Amino acid sequence: MYKSGFGNHISFHMPGHKGKKFFPDDLTKFDTTEIDGTDNLYAPRGIIQAAQEHAAEVYGAGHTIFLTNGATAGIVSAILALSDERGVIIVARNCHKSVFSGIILSGAYPFYVYPKMYGDFAGSVAPLDIEQAILKNKDKRISAVALTSPTYEGITSDIKKILEITNRYGIPLIVDEAHGAHFPFSPDFPQNSAAVGADIVINSMHKTLPVFGQSALLHINAPKLVPKIMACLELTQTSSPSYLLMCAMDKFFEDYKAYDFGEYSRNLQDTRAVLKECKNIRLLENDDLSRLVFLAKDMGNFGNTLRDKYNVEIEGSFDGHAIAISTISDSIEDLRTLQNAVLETDRLYAPKEQKTAEYARTDTVISPRKAFFGKRRVVPIEHAAGEICAENIMLCPPAIPIIAAGEIITESIIANIPPILREINVTEEKYVK
Ligand SMILES: Cc1ncc(COP(=O)(O)O)c(C=O)c1O
Repeated sequence: MYKSGFGNHISFHMPGHKGKKFFPDDLTKFDTTEIDGTDNLYAPRGIIQAAQEHAAEVYGAGHTIFLTNGATAGIVSAILALSDERGVIIVARNCHKSVFSGIILSGAYPFYVYPKMYGDFAGSVAPLDIEQAILKNKDKRISAVALTSPTYEGITSDIKKILEITNRYGIPLIVDEAHGAHFPFSPDFPQNSAAVGADIVINSMHKTLPVFGQSALLHINAPKLVPKIMACLELTQTSSPSYLLMCAMDKFFEDYKAYDFGEYSRNLQDTRAVLKECKNIRLLENDDLSRLVFLAKDMGNFGNTLRDKYNVEIEGSFDGHAIAISTISDSIEDLRTLQNAVLETDRLYAPKEQKTAEYARTDTVISPRKAFFGKRRVVPIEHAAGEICAENIMLCPPAIPIIAAGEIITESIIANIPPILREINVTEEKYVK
């Protein structure tokens, strides 16, 4: 692994540093532990506290906590802190698996809100749908509303409007803003959710900013939630948080003004304008300028073509779209290389019709925790319709469950499961119809 060195391709995938130098070479100097003067992440009173306060100021958040086990640890901890088996959590169905993991661990019962679909991927959730979900569950204890904004494809939901609704009903809003850690650094990016006032926001810094993998942030705008979330972070995170990761995050907040986000934004706009010359591949008009999403038919081999012919490695190729992650670490030359590779490859693809798809919906009939931890049985996929799923089944990326624990497996959901999966765990736990 070490010897492989991971090649020298032009990166349009995470982490956001793109393999370029952003940190001093003497890494080991920064890889320390809790000794005199280095503070403690779980009881910060010194340099970690000061660094977190600086980060909070940058994001316009009330309180910010460094995460060294990815956004995942922050999301799971937030759900654990807020919800339990006594209540319902309202969740956008296109959330990342970490939200579904948090639900299994907490024992909460999910009520799913379905997003708008863009053919083979999901987009925003409508504020009205969130309000209707709240009203449908008004006789129950609603612990939180959780959603993803922006999505992997750079589509945001109207967080301001959704927050007005959740505030009106006194329900905390958790925004998984994993893919939007860069939002505060240019007015050309969408407004970041912590600055709008969302109760809890999680940013995966390593996806779009020059820091090390697993570096992330948890912002809290409701001070009373801080102690419980901190306690849950101690349940889910390592007791040896990486000082190297924390120092690199702090370094970015020290340095960010020196990065030319204005020029970067202009470069992105120019690249987007040129990419519109493609005849077959269409660039998605999404909310995040930096997330380049290419739409065409049968794009499964798009990434391979860019790698083999142009030495460009993108984030992912799917059936009807492909994703390139651009960050402040990309030079104008990197963007041009990607742009020319896409222009030259365009003729290999056929345009994709503008299809709207329906989310393959089903019902949750038993709590995901009970389905996951209860008695299980393995059944062949072709005999699974009508059974209740005991696990979360997904492709990663995007790590959005095709079927989640507690949901009834239907024929249309089976049709979405990749053929490589031959068997599925179903629960034998009883449920009330
Ligand atoms: C929408 C979304 N949320 C959360 C995560 C988890 O982030 P991390 O890898 O930092 O744990 C991901 C990771 O891909 C993601 O795509």
